[in-house]
Amino acid sequence: MQRGSASHVDKKSNFKKQLKLVAMTGDDMYILNNSNPVPLYKQLYNQIREHILSGKLPAESRLPSVRDMAIELSASRNTVDGAYQELYAEGYIYSRPRSGYFVSALNQEVAPQALSGKPGKNDYLPGPPSCFAYDFHPARLDPESFPTELWRKCFIEGLRRNSEQLVQYGDLQGDWGLRSLIQSYLERSRGVTCDPDQIIVCTGLQQSLEIVAQVLKESHSVVAVENPGYHLPRSVFQNHSYTIFPVPVGQGGIDLNHLKASNSTIAYVTPSHQLPLGYVMPVANRLALIEWAESGGNFIIEDDYDSELRYHGKPIPSLQGLRPTGNIIYSGTFSKLLSPALRLSYLVLPYSLLATYRQLYRAYFPSVSLLEQRTMATFMGQGHWERHIRRMRMIYKKKHDILLRSVDTHFGARAVVLGQGAGLHVVLILPDTLHSEAEIIDRARQRGIRLYPFSDFHVTGQPEAATLLLGFGGMNGSEIEQGIAILSQIC
Ligand SMILES: Cc1ncc(COP(=O)(O)O)c(C=O)c1O
Repeated sequence: MQRGSASHVDKKSNFKKQLKLVAMTGDDMYILNNSNPVPLYKQLYNQIREHILSGKLPAESRLPSVRDMAIELSASRNTVDGAYQELYAEGYIYSRPRSGYFVSALNQEVAPQALSGKPGKNDYLPGPPSCFAYDFHPARLDPESFPTELWRKCFIEGLRRNSEQLVQYGDLQGDWGLRSLIQSYLERSRGVTCDPDQIIVCTGLQQSLEIVAQVLKESHSVVAVENPGYHLPRSVFQNHSYTIFPVPVGQGGIDLNHLKASNSTIAYVTPSHQLPLGYVMPVANRLALIEWAESGGNFIIEDDYDSELRYHGKPIPSLQGLRPTGNIIYSGTFSKLLSPALRLSYLVLPYSLLATYRQLYRAYFPSVSLLEQRTMATFMGQGHWERHIRRMRMIYKKKHDILLRSVDTHFGARAVVLGQGAGLHVVLILPDTLHSEAEIIDRARQRGIRLYPFSDFHVTGQPEAATLLLGFGGMNGSEIEQGIAILSQIC
């Protein structure tokens, strides 16, 4: 009797665990609808399959037993068994003797889309390693470009220097040596005027914007963003309860009339290489934007993410340099030339915000590892960083030129190219294609090409013609050529 009740308790808690597993991994429990003409087993199969493809049911999750699932759903065992058998036959799940069914490990990159899934909103974020033969990701770097050996040497040097500092928490704003080097680099090459005191070493734009959102939230609530524009600022400010106001972007950058007509008091801009269209904001508009900030007590966030990569002429100087004492928050990153995986960037706050920042963050610790900061400082201090930039500019210029030549050869007058001459991507407009963006992405996928939806950059509205975003950093020359040739056949 005792044994019986113990096993009953075990079973019950096991069952609960299994149910919890389903509930934890899905938004809802599975729902079967008797009035739906789709057979019940197929409804269940579809829902489990969708949870597996979307990752809600991760690899190695155990499915509830046929019996338990049938009880839970008030369905027959045949229904559950039918669904499981089909999932098993197609390889979505596998069985372990005496243990039940488990979710198979699928490569999410090549898995078909979840049934109700649209092309993912965040498909252009770095994902797991790609299995596509041609990947036009806009933020992937040359696979052989990371200076591994130099980095190793700089790391070891940093490790040996002042090792007593490794047993303490470092400076909240980052290692002083690195901040000083960033300051002189910014002054020399980006025309930014600031003190190391104003610099915060961050783990990427995301963290920089989190700080800005915190620091400004007492007196600001509406942020203007470029439309089309980078999705990340929208997410961060929305998560901090700001209202997002999309402002159209033209050849002159963010539309100042729209901006002025809005009640935004913060404007996030990419003035030296607008993402995604590639426009450079002319100096007259920069000055007008600064005037908007100064006259209204407003703030500009200048995201200067890839300005080193300009292939003709000199990089465009920063907006911050036009008014170093103005309300301009400047953000830069090492992700575009060195490595997005390092998570190393910097934020320059105007003096007017420093006191609030230090007050709000007085109990915080630095976010970036001191060893990583020292490695970067050694890398910069020994001149490797600027040599690396020159090398990267040559590598990417070559790829950029191959891309433009291939587009010219294979698309000719069918395509209009925007944003050439800088960065790691160009935009291709196809005024005459009969295919929608989704169709092109799907047709490309079938030919081994990965594209990223341009429409994701739009907060409102859509491009008038099919538009492709073509990142070229991660592919070699012949991959770029072949990828473009195939694209020209399917668009
Ligand atoms: C406009 C823009 N800013 C910033 C970044 C990335 O910055 P980080 O890697 O430092 O977060 C990206 C990355 O693609 C970007 O597109």
